[in-house]
Amino acid sequence: MNKREKYEALLTELSPLIEGESNTIGVLANVAALIKEKLGFFWVGFYLVKSNLQGEEHLALGPFQGPIACYRIGYGKGVCGTCWKERKTVVVEDVEEFPGHIACSSLSRSEIVVPLFNNSDKGVWGVLDIDSTEIGTFDSIDSQYLERAMQIVSASLKL
Ligand code: SME
Repeated sequence: MNKREKYEALLTELSPLIEGESNTIGVLANVAALIKEKLGFFWVGFYLVKSNLQGEEHLALGPFQGPIACYRIGYGKGVCGTCWKERKTVVVEDVEEFPGHIACSSLSRSEIVVPLFNNSDKGVWGVLDIDSTEIGTFDSIDSQYLERAMQIVSASLKL
């Protein structure tokens, strides 16, 4: 199967997997597992916008598949924080060329981060982060399908 066919298979399974389930952590865990199973990337997971007691927001590690990862990422920091701030998908061909990239694993060489928008006010409530051990893994096919997948996830969770 080529990449498009793998993503088509992913989309076919996604809605039945998550529909009617309101447990956000459970749904995101299964979505990370489905992406890892279908596409086989090195690290697939979510960072979720959380507030501390002072009301300051950061990205907190959520459900993921892959090696251990960092717990917190600030607004505008790293690839994930940049995606949150700019409210758009960020594709990094070579992480060594991305200023401020946060290296959770030295094996990560390229990365894609896709925002999750809530349907009410279109705020970013989290990001999907995927890492590859090879340079230049991600392109517009990945961003197109992963953005579609994240729209389905947000709509299904009624966020
Ligand atoms: N590389 C990310 C941090 C998260 S890990 O890749 C799992 C970043 O720069 O935001």
